[in-house]
Amino acid sequence: MKCGLLESASASPNGLFETPAGHSNHHTIKPMTSALFSPFTLRGLTLPNRIVVSPMCQYMSEDGSANDWHVMHLGQFAMGAAGLVITEATHVSRVGRISHRCLGIYSDENEFTLKRVVDFCRRNGVAKLGIQLAHSGRKGSVHTPAEGSKPLAAGERPWATVAPSALPFAPGWHVPTALTREGLATVKQEFVDGAARAARIGFDLAELHVGHGYLLHEFLSPLSNQRTDEYGGSTANRMRFPLEVFKAVRAVFPAERPVGVRVSATDWVDGGWTPEETVLFARELKALGCDFVDVTSGQVDPRQQIPFGPGYNVPLAEKVKKEAGIAVMAVGMITKARQAEEIVASGQADLVAIARAMMDDPRWAWHAARELGAETPYAPNYVRCHPSGWKP
Ligand SMILES: Cc1cc2nc3c(=O)[nH]c(=O)nc-3n(C[C@H](O)[C@H](O)[C@H](O)COP(=O)(O)O)c2cc1C
Repeated sequence: MKCGLLESASASPNGLFETPAGHSNHHTIKPMTSALFSPFTLRGLTLPNRIVVSPMCQYMSEDGSANDWHVMHLGQFAMGAAGLVITEATHVSRVGRISHRCLGIYSDENEFTLKRVVDFCRRNGVAKLGIQLAHSGRKGSVHTPAEGSKPLAAGERPWATVAPSALPFAPGWHVPTALTREGLATVKQEFVDGAARAARIGFDLAELHVGHGYLLHEFLSPLSNQRTDEYGGSTANRMRFPLEVFKAVRAVFPAERPVGVRVSATDWVDGGWTPEETVLFARELKALGCDFVDVTSGQVDPRQQIPFGPGYNVPLAEKVKKEAGIAVMAVGMITKARQAEEIVASGQADLVAIARAMMDDPRWAWHAARELGAETPYAPNYVRCHPSGWKP
């Protein structure tokens, strides 16, 4: 039994939650009124609630391989913090990593070690598990944030980075090599191979990283893509390579499992990628079978002016949802239960992804459920801390 709470809930014919067996308490029946805690289905995957643990790079891997840190990091979220937990950016090649310590999915060893983490989460947790497939492009070959995020110097095992055009992210950063036609085919195949490994590992869902100034976003943005071939210039041309990669990944990932895209909906720089272009991109993705767009913003150009504030990407997510007619995940400074509830209940987004507040409180979803009078799954070993059995 995964979770008595959820199972008794779904067994209830009138949509009311019932008390889990063996729990004595005073609120035997709770009406299910929360939009945040209502289920959501994408293809063959039904999430028990709308809360997603957003990808968070850990910089704890060795040559891309996961270890006990990842068991702890993802394991704590899998215990019941959210409906879906998405791994940190998991890079499809060695040169596609950001730093030497990034997670990867380019070798048998990477696959084996990540499967161990996923198996642990499955055995002990209740959350569905997604993977973010990524390539750092011109933002690779740098130190970890804890070490200052500066480009690796000679003697620090730097590597040659690749991008749509030979334009560095900022002065002093590595100048990437512009991908040739052959290079594009190689990168696409690396994404396909990574997706096939992810499917074998057993991930329920895959998300392509097309945001935050990494390789696929670099193709979208005219600030980083100044190619003169069919992969640069017009919006349609700049979208071409990310769409080709999406199509190839979708083809290799099992049909019943969803594939979505995280996209920076604006560069927050004049002359950059725009929300209107994001809508066009989302429509194209939808036509290719994309299941959701995870709407973030920025990070392709250091001149960006981001209006940070609570839910600052939510209007962008809402625009994509309404104008492209696709399911969206909103992310960025969503920290409070009622704020998240309002975003979902008002129809601005279908899902909310939470990063820092989730690290701060890995039981965020349990506490939000308590505040909203809803239920969310508990891992079997932790059912005894459900407040129905004691007074917190
Ligand atoms: C430690 C840390 C690591 C992150 N790593 C990733 C990542 O691997 N991929 C990604 O798309 N976003 C990454 N992000 C961005 C988050 O997923 C999220 O979009 C951002 O932090 C805003 O959400 P928040 O306000 O809930 O933290 C990271 C954020 C943090 C704090």
